[in-house]
Amino acid sequence: MNHVIVETRDRITRIELNRPEKKNALSPEMYAAMAQALKAADADAQVRAVLIHGQRDCFTSGNDVKDFLELPRGPGDSPAAGFLRAISTARKPLVAAVGGPAVGIGTTMLLHCDLVYAAPNARLQMPFVPLGLLPEAASSLLLPAMAGYRRAAEMLLLGGPFSAEKALAAGIVTEIVPEGELLERARQAAAALAALPPESVRMTKELMKRALAPAVQERMTEELGLFGERLRSPEAKEALSAFMEKRKPDFSRFS
Ligand code: COA
Repeated sequence: MNHVIVETRDRITRIELNRPEKKNALSPEMYAAMAQALKAADADAQVRAVLIHGQRDCFTSGNDVKDFLELPRGPGDSPAAGFLRAISTARKPLVAAVGGPAVGIGTTMLLHCDLVYAAPNARLQMPFVPLGLLPEAASSLLLPAMAGYRRAAEMLLLGGPFSAEKALAAGIVTEIVPEGELLERARQAAAALAALPPESVRMTKELMKRALAPAVQERMTEELGLFGERLRSPEAKEALSAFMEKRKPDFSRFS
Protein backbone atom coordinates (compact mmCIF):
# COMPACT_ATOMS: atom_id res chain seq x y z
CA MET A 1 0.00 0.00 0.00
CA ASN A 2 1.31 3.40 -0.99
CA HIS A 3 1.23 5.57 2.12
CA VAL A 4 1.98 8.76 0.19
CA ILE A 5 0.31 9.34 -3.15
CA VAL A 6 2.01 11.88 -5.39
CA GLU A 7 0.44 13.02 -8.61
CA THR A 8 1.13 15.98 -10.87
CA ARG A 9 -1.70 17.24 -13.02
CA ASP A 10 -2.66 20.64 -14.41
CA ARG A 11 0.58 22.16 -13.05
CA ILE A 12 -0.25 21.13 -9.48
CA THR A 13 1.59 18.45 -7.52
CA ARG A 14 -0.79 16.74 -5.11
CA ILE A 15 0.68 15.00 -2.07
CA GLU A 16 -1.87 12.80 -0.34
CA LEU A 17 -1.17 11.15 3.02
CA ASN A 18 -2.72 7.72 2.81
CA ARG A 19 -2.23 5.58 5.90
CA PRO A 20 -5.72 5.90 7.36
CA GLU A 21 -5.47 2.79 9.56
CA LYS A 22 -2.81 4.62 11.62
CA LYS A 23 -4.43 8.05 11.23
CA ASN A 24 -1.77 8.90 8.63
CA ALA A 25 1.04 8.59 11.22
CA LEU A 26 4.25 9.49 9.38
CA SER A 27 6.93 6.84 8.91
CA PRO A 28 10.50 7.50 7.69
CA GLU A 29 9.45 6.27 4.23
CA MET A 30 6.54 8.73 4.17
CA TYR A 31 8.78 11.66 5.14
CA ALA A 32 11.23 10.65 2.41
CA ALA A 33 8.44 10.42 -0.18
CA MET A 34 7.07 13.84 0.81
CA ALA A 35 10.54 15.44 0.70
CA GLN A 36 11.17 13.88 -2.69
CA ALA A 37 7.83 15.17 -4.03
CA LEU A 38 8.54 18.70 -2.77
CA LYS A 39 12.02 18.73 -4.30
CA ALA A 40 10.70 17.34 -7.59
CA ALA A 41 7.99 20.04 -7.66
CA ASP A 42 10.61 22.75 -7.12
CA ALA A 43 12.78 21.31 -9.89
CA ASP A 44 9.96 20.92 -12.43
CA ALA A 45 9.26 24.12 -14.35
CA GLN A 46 5.81 22.78 -15.23
CA VAL A 47 4.73 22.65 -11.57
CA ARG A 48 3.36 25.88 -10.16
CA ALA A 49 1.79 24.85 -6.84
CA VAL A 50 1.75 21.96 -4.37
CA LEU A 51 -1.34 20.68 -2.57
CA ILE A 52 -0.93 18.63 0.61
CA HIS A 53 -3.88 16.77 2.14
CA GLY A 54 -5.09 13.64 3.88
CA GLN A 55 -8.65 12.37 4.06
CA ARG A 56 -11.75 14.32 5.01
CA ASP A 57 -11.57 13.05 8.61
CA CYS A 58 -7.79 12.94 9.06
CA PHE A 59 -4.83 15.08 8.05
CA THR A 60 -2.12 13.31 10.05
CA SER A 61 -1.54 12.13 13.63
CA GLY A 62 2.09 13.24 13.23
CA ASN A 63 5.23 11.21 13.65
CA ASP A 64 4.67 7.50 14.16
CA VAL A 65 4.96 7.15 17.94
CA LYS A 66 6.29 3.60 17.58
CA ASP A 67 9.19 4.96 15.51
CA PHE A 68 9.88 7.58 18.17
CA LEU A 69 10.44 4.71 20.60
CA GLU A 70 12.29 2.37 18.25
CA LEU A 71 14.27 4.66 15.95
CA PRO A 72 15.74 7.47 18.04
CA ARG A 73 16.87 10.17 15.65
CA GLY A 74 20.30 11.61 15.24
CA PRO A 75 20.37 15.37 14.88
CA GLY A 76 19.56 16.52 11.42
CA ASP A 77 20.07 13.29 9.50
CA SER A 78 16.63 11.68 9.71
CA PRO A 79 14.04 11.53 6.92
CA ALA A 80 11.86 13.80 9.11
CA ALA A 81 14.66 16.39 9.16
CA GLY A 82 14.98 16.07 5.38
CA PHE A 83 11.26 16.66 4.99
CA LEU A 84 11.39 19.72 7.26
CA ARG A 85 14.27 21.16 5.28
CA ALA A 86 12.38 20.56 2.02
CA ILE A 87 9.10 22.10 3.17
CA SER A 88 10.77 25.07 4.85
CA THR A 89 12.79 25.93 1.75
CA ALA A 90 10.19 25.10 -0.92
CA ARG A 91 10.09 27.79 -3.60
CA LYS A 92 6.74 26.84 -5.10
CA PRO A 93 3.60 27.88 -3.19
CA LEU A 94 2.20 25.25 -0.82
CA VAL A 95 -1.50 24.78 -0.10
CA ALA A 96 -2.79 22.48 2.66
CA ALA A 97 -6.28 21.06 3.27
CA VAL A 98 -6.80 19.99 6.88
CA GLY A 99 -9.69 17.92 8.19
CA GLY A 100 -9.69 15.89 11.44
CA PRO A 101 -6.51 15.47 13.50
CA ALA A 102 -3.38 17.43 12.58
CA VAL A 103 -1.02 16.45 15.38
CA GLY A 104 2.61 17.37 16.03
CA ILE A 105 4.34 17.83 12.71
CA GLY A 106 0.80 17.71 11.25
CA THR A 107 0.35 21.20 12.71
CA THR A 108 3.91 22.49 12.54
CA MET A 109 4.24 21.72 8.81
CA LEU A 110 1.30 24.11 8.28
CA LEU A 111 3.48 26.98 9.51
CA HIS A 112 5.52 26.49 6.32
CA CYS A 113 2.54 26.34 3.96
CA ASP A 114 1.32 29.47 2.21
CA LEU A 115 -2.43 28.82 2.20
CA VAL A 116 -4.12 26.54 4.74
CA TYR A 117 -7.78 25.52 4.48
CA ALA A 118 -9.35 23.73 7.41
CA ALA A 119 -12.69 22.04 7.94
CA PRO A 120 -14.68 22.63 11.13
CA ASN A 121 -13.76 19.06 12.22
CA ALA A 122 -10.03 19.90 12.20
CA ARG A 123 -8.32 19.26 15.55
CA LEU A 124 -4.85 20.71 15.64
CA GLN A 125 -2.38 19.90 18.38
CA MET A 126 1.31 20.23 19.17
CA PRO A 127 1.69 17.81 22.11
CA PHE A 128 5.48 17.98 22.26
CA VAL A 129 5.69 18.95 25.93
CA PRO A 130 3.08 16.42 27.09
CA LEU A 131 5.17 13.80 25.26
CA GLY A 132 8.36 14.87 27.06
CA LEU A 133 9.68 16.38 23.81
CA LEU A 134 9.99 19.93 22.51
CA PRO A 135 8.79 21.81 19.43
CA GLU A 136 10.24 21.17 15.97
CA ALA A 137 9.95 22.64 12.47
CA ALA A 138 11.12 25.99 13.91
CA SER A 139 7.67 26.25 15.52
CA SER A 140 9.30 27.67 18.66
CA LEU A 141 10.25 30.65 16.49
CA LEU A 142 7.46 30.78 13.89
CA LEU A 143 4.45 30.27 16.13
CA PRO A 144 5.11 33.18 18.54
CA ALA A 145 5.82 35.34 15.47
CA MET A 146 2.60 34.22 13.78
CA ALA A 147 0.19 33.91 16.67
CA GLY A 148 1.77 36.09 19.38
CA TYR A 149 3.52 34.75 22.47
CA ARG A 150 0.34 34.35 24.55
CA ARG A 151 -1.37 32.00 22.08
CA ALA A 152 1.88 30.20 21.20
CA ALA A 153 2.56 29.56 24.90
CA GLU A 154 -0.85 27.97 25.36
CA MET A 155 -0.45 25.78 22.26
CA LEU A 156 3.17 24.76 22.84
CA LEU A 157 3.41 24.59 26.64
CA LEU A 158 0.04 23.00 27.43
CA GLY A 159 0.06 21.16 24.11
CA GLY A 160 -3.68 20.51 24.07
CA PRO A 161 -5.90 20.13 20.99
CA PHE A 162 -7.50 23.22 19.50
CA SER A 163 -10.17 23.95 16.93
CA ALA A 164 -10.08 25.29 13.38
CA GLU A 165 -11.61 28.52 14.77
CA LYS A 166 -8.74 28.93 17.19
CA ALA A 167 -6.22 28.13 14.47
CA LEU A 168 -7.83 30.76 12.27
CA ALA A 169 -7.61 33.36 15.03
CA ALA A 170 -3.95 32.41 15.58
CA GLY A 171 -3.12 32.89 11.91
CA ILE A 172 -2.29 29.22 11.32
CA VAL A 173 -5.30 28.74 9.04
CA THR A 174 -6.32 30.89 6.07
CA GLU A 175 -10.02 29.99 5.96
CA ILE A 176 -12.51 27.53 7.42
CA VAL A 177 -14.37 25.60 4.75
CA PRO A 178 -17.28 23.13 5.14
CA GLU A 179 -16.00 19.57 5.34
CA GLY A 180 -17.53 18.48 2.03
CA GLU A 181 -15.94 21.39 0.15
CA LEU A 182 -12.50 21.32 1.79
CA LEU A 183 -10.43 19.55 -0.83
CA GLU A 184 -12.12 21.31 -3.73
CA ARG A 185 -11.56 24.73 -2.10
CA ALA A 186 -7.87 23.96 -1.57
CA ARG A 187 -7.60 22.64 -5.11
CA GLN A 188 -9.18 25.83 -6.45
CA ALA A 189 -6.66 27.90 -4.51
CA ALA A 190 -3.80 25.82 -5.91
CA ALA A 191 -5.28 26.23 -9.40
CA ALA A 192 -5.54 30.00 -8.88
CA LEU A 193 -1.87 30.09 -7.86
CA ALA A 194 -0.97 27.93 -10.85
CA ALA A 195 -2.68 30.38 -13.21
CA LEU A 196 -0.71 33.39 -11.94
CA PRO A 197 2.63 34.59 -13.35
CA PRO A 198 4.95 31.96 -11.80
CA GLU A 199 8.05 34.07 -11.33
CA SER A 200 6.05 36.78 -9.62
CA VAL A 201 4.52 34.20 -7.28
CA ARG A 202 7.93 32.68 -6.44
CA MET A 203 9.60 36.05 -5.90
CA THR A 204 6.78 37.28 -3.67
CA LYS A 205 6.94 34.14 -1.53
CA GLU A 206 10.71 34.47 -1.26
CA LEU A 207 10.48 38.12 -0.25
CA MET A 208 7.85 37.44 2.41
CA LYS A 209 9.93 34.62 3.90
CA ARG A 210 13.36 36.23 3.55
CA ALA A 211 13.57 38.05 6.88
CA LEU A 212 13.05 34.90 8.93
CA ALA A 213 14.60 32.34 6.55
CA PRO A 214 18.13 32.10 8.07
CA ALA A 215 16.75 32.12 11.61
CA VAL A 216 14.25 29.39 10.69
CA GLN A 217 17.01 27.07 9.42
CA GLU A 218 19.18 27.79 12.45
CA ARG A 219 16.33 27.19 14.91
CA MET A 220 15.26 24.03 13.10
CA THR A 221 18.74 22.57 13.38
CA GLU A 222 18.95 23.48 17.06
CA GLU A 223 15.50 22.02 17.79
CA LEU A 224 16.35 18.79 15.92
CA GLY A 225 19.45 18.27 18.06
CA LEU A 226 17.53 18.89 21.27
CA PHE A 227 14.60 16.79 20.04
CA GLY A 228 16.93 13.80 19.53
CA GLU A 229 18.18 14.21 23.10
CA ARG A 230 14.66 14.49 24.49
CA LEU A 231 13.60 11.30 22.68
CA ARG A 232 16.13 9.43 24.81
CA SER A 233 14.92 11.08 28.04
CA PRO A 234 13.04 9.08 30.70
CA GLU A 235 10.19 11.64 30.49
CA ALA A 236 9.65 10.97 26.79
CA LYS A 237 10.01 7.20 27.22
CA GLU A 238 7.25 7.27 29.84
CA ALA A 239 4.95 9.48 27.72
CA LEU A 240 5.44 7.56 24.47
CA SER A 241 5.15 4.12 26.10
CA ALA A 242 1.96 5.29 27.80
CA PHE A 243 0.48 6.19 24.40
CA MET A 244 1.37 2.81 22.89
CA GLU A 245 0.06 0.99 25.99
CA LYS A 246 -3.13 3.09 25.93
CA ARG A 247 -2.66 4.35 29.50
CA LYS A 248 -2.21 7.71 31.18
CA PRO A 249 1.44 8.76 31.59
CA ASP A 250 2.77 9.27 35.11
CA PHE A 251 5.35 12.05 35.49
CA SER A 252 5.22 12.18 39.31
CA ARG A 253 8.70 10.62 39.77
CA PHE A 254 10.47 13.29 37.67
CA SER A 255 11.98 16.40 39.21
N1 COA B 1 1.80 6.90 15.76
C1 COA B 1 1.53 5.59 15.73
N2 COA B 1 0.29 5.09 15.75
C2 COA B 1 -0.71 5.97 15.79
C3 COA B 1 -0.51 7.37 15.83
C4 COA B 1 0.83 7.82 15.81
N3 COA B 1 1.13 9.11 15.79
N4 COA B 1 -1.71 7.99 15.87
C5 COA B 1 -2.65 7.01 15.87
N5 COA B 1 -2.04 5.80 15.82
C6 COA B 1 -2.69 4.50 15.77
C7 COA B 1 -3.32 4.12 17.10
O1 COA B 1 -2.35 3.53 17.96
C8 COA B 1 -4.38 3.16 16.64
O2 COA B 1 -3.76 1.94 16.34
P1 COA B 1 -4.49 0.53 16.67
O3 COA B 1 -5.72 0.54 15.80
O4 COA B 1 -3.49 -0.50 16.26
O5 COA B 1 -4.81 0.56 18.13
C9 COA B 1 -4.86 3.75 15.30
O6 COA B 1 -3.79 4.57 14.85
C10 COA B 1 -6.10 4.61 15.42
O7 COA B 1 -5.83 5.64 16.38
P2 COA B 1 -6.83 6.01 17.57
O8 COA B 1 -6.06 6.68 18.68
O9 COA B 1 -7.65 4.81 17.95
O10 COA B 1 -7.78 7.09 16.82
P3 COA B 1 -8.61 8.27 17.47
O11 COA B 1 -9.49 8.76 16.39
O12 COA B 1 -9.24 7.84 18.76
O13 COA B 1 -7.53 9.42 17.82
C11 COA B 1 -5.64 10.83 17.40
C12 COA B 1 -6.79 10.03 16.79
C13 COA B 1 -4.76 11.30 16.25
C14 COA B 1 -6.19 12.02 18.18
C15 COA B 1 -4.84 9.92 18.36
O14 COA B 1 -4.55 8.70 17.68
C16 COA B 1 -3.54 10.49 18.82
O15 COA B 1 -3.50 11.35 19.69
N6 COA B 1 -2.40 9.99 18.25
C17 COA B 1 -1.08 10.31 18.71
C18 COA B 1 -0.64 11.60 18.15
C19 COA B 1 0.76 11.94 18.62
O16 COA B 1 1.06 11.99 19.79
N7 COA B 1 1.64 12.14 17.64
C20 COA B 1 3.00 12.52 17.84
C21 COA B 1 3.10 13.99 17.87
S1 COA B 1 4.72 14.58 18.21
